[in-house]
This record gives sequence, structure tokens and C-alpha cells, in this order.
Amino acid sequence: MAILKVARMGHPILRQKARPVSSEEFGSDDLMGLIEDMMETMEEYGGIGLAAPQVHESLQLAIIGFDGDNNRYPDMGDQELLVLCNPVITVLDEEKQGYWEGCLSVPGLRGKVYRPRKIRVDFQDPEGKSKHIEPEGFLATVFQHELDHLAGVLYIDRVEQGPGKTELVFQEEYDRYHVPDEDDEVGEMTD
Ligand code: NI
Repeated sequence: MAILKVARMGHPILRQKARPVSSEEFGSDDLMGLIEDMMETMEEYGGIGLAAPQVHESLQLAIIGFDGDNNRYPDMGDQELLVLCNPVITVLDEEKQGYWEGCLSVPGLRGKVYRPRKIRVDFQDPEGKSKHIEPEGFLATVFQHELDHLAGVLYIDRVEQGPGKTELVFQEEYDRYHVPDEDDEVGEMTD
């Protein structure tokens, strides 16, 4: 096991479309080793998700998992660690919800992003078995943020910017001026 170096915005790998995990790779020592390293890396940096391009592997692979007790918003609940290979998203509810997002590849910043509130994700597990999940609410945002990484998209691409908008901010200013209060609909995430 090893803690991997995280690619930061500006590294070209974050802008590439990742290649699918091939049938020969499923269940292989290489794939399992990479997943273990990604788990360790995510834990080390306190993320709730990590996509392979963030650790310099241009592969359609992402992990997601968090413990509600460690989250600023306990009502977000827990998500058991999930490994997604070759995920495909279908939007089930177009209604948009906003969360403040952060990213280990874009350190020091936060941005408010509006995304569909309910999706379906079809994917394969590390053994190649087909599965699906229908995340909604906060979890739907986490999945969409993570899977964007596999398409070379960063959350900052989706922040609405312009005059009068303060929706892309430094962490320090976020802490001072933008932390949502408890009854605010807008929560936050970091991967
Ligand atoms: Ni990210």
C-alpha cells in the first residue's frame, strides 16, 4: 500500500478522457493494488471520493465513501466505500441542487455547483460484475463530481461565475463568509 501523489489543476491528465477498465484488468493484482492505494490516499487527505486521474492514472475508476460522523453535516449519513469501474450516469431528476464543492486537485478553493438531484449510475465492480446505484441529494452530487473527473471535467468548469457572483472562493473566505448554516439547503463536499 502506498499514499499516491495527487495531480493538481494544470496537470494535463486531469483534462483527459480516461480509458475504460478492460476485461483483462478486472480482478487483476494491478487493479486491486491501485484501488488499495487510492483508498489509502483518500483517507490520508480526508476526501470523500477519489478518481483515478487524480492519482495520475487515466482510467475510468473512482472510489466514494464517507462516514457521516466525520462530516460537517451529520444528516448526510454514511456511504459505505464503493468502487466504480466504467460508470455511466443517467439523470433521473433534472431538478438542480447546489452544494459547495472542493477538490483535492484544486486545493484551497471552494465553489458552489448546481447539479441534478437524482441520478442512476451503472458501473462494474473491481471483479467486472455489473451493478447500479441510484444516489440522490448530497450523494448524487458526490457521484457527479467524481465521475466528471473521468471525463476531464473539474467542478470549477460548472461554477456559475460573473459580475455579482461570489461562487468561487478561497477556503479562508469560505469559512468566514459562506459556510452554510444548518437550515440552509446548500451543503458542502470535498473529494
Ligand atoms: Ni475532485
